Amino acid sequence: MIRARIIGCGAFLPDNIVTNDDLAKKVDTSDEWIRERTGIRQRHIARDGETTSDLAVAAGRAALADAGIDAGELDMVICATTTPDESFPATATIVQARLGMSRGAAFDVQAVCSGFIYGLALADSLIRTGAARTILLIGAETMSRLLDWTDRSTCVLFGDGAGAVVLQAHEGTGGNADQGVLNAKLFSDGRLHDMLYTDGGVSKTQTAGKLKMQGKEVFKHAVTNIAAAIQASLDDAGLTVDQIAWFVPHQANQRILDGTARKLNIDPSRVVSTVALHGNTSAASVPLALCTAVRDGRIKRGDLVLLEAMGGGFTWGAALIRW
Ligand code: ACO
Repeated sequence: MIRARIIGCGAFLPDNIVTNDDLAKKVDTSDEWIRERTGIRQRHIARDGETTSDLAVAAGRAALADAGIDAGELDMVICATTTPDESFPATATIVQARLGMSRGAAFDVQAVCSGFIYGLALADSLIRTGAARTILLIGAETMSRLLDWTDRSTCVLFGDGAGAVVLQAHEGTGGNADQGVLNAKLFSDGRLHDMLYTDGGVSKTQTAGKLKMQGKEVFKHAVTNIAAAIQASLDDAGLTVDQIAWFVPHQANQRILDGTARKLNIDPSRVVSTVALHGNTSAASVPLALCTAVRDGRIKRGDLVLLEAMGGGFTWGAALIRW
């Protein structure tokens, strides 16, 4: 059986760091409030003219270097993003050109904060069915462009960044001991649109709009949905929580991470948390956290790793990987 194995990962954060104290000079907030309610200490914000594709290319190059392969060996580039450079073409095609890849296919996936998990499920299916052998999957966002910087209830939560992985076909046995993606579970419920959305879009207002959120409602749904997705992934593989070496969650809010861990009896020391350093980077957050834990040696070959995310739509999902 063919498995999609991650052979390299890369990350990129813009060099412009905005601390909670910096934000407190612009809106009525404080470092104490933001830390207590979210765990966030700082975020990276793209500079004027710095685009999602700039971040995506940097993370993509780092992932290719880590995998030790050239862009010419890629069959596909998939970019998960909610903040494309242009309404069309797909940011992935801009990345494809800038990486010097002239063959294969490139396209974007839009599932907001769950984008990387959706992209991973897609890449896994394409590789397992033989449609592609090697795929660069990137989560890249400039969420700062969608924020109302006068709305303290949302602008303190998000940041910009990109993370990427290279997935490649690898022969496995079909069992849980195989290296690669073991499963990916996707969910959505469009009835919950009004809890998290932008008040504009190309078709509706001919503008991108600004992010609107019912924070308390999102919080409640997040813990329940994420826990259910994790359980679905574990059940599908016939595994239990204690067999997972590392949980790599979407980095939205430390309290959501803690609440989910409590609900499922996950040892908090097994949860990778990077939210303090970059806030919620939407589709970029899972690969950013994954890359951090791989680079610092926590995640090792053979470890079972569980990824999860939830975002606007609502969309949510989880994926189980043997590293
Ligand atoms: N600084 C200071 N005070 C603030 C701020 C701020 N930045 N933002 C809101 N407040 C005030 C409110 O106005 C309110 O004041 P009031 O009591 O006088 O009306 C008070 O703080 C409490 O506000 P709540 O909304 O009740 O605060 P809560 O404890 O729910 O925390 C938060 C708000 C952090 C947004 C929380 O609801 C949350 O994290 N929700 C999840 C949101 C999220 O993660 N979204 C990301 C996208 S979805 C995803 O990725 C999972």
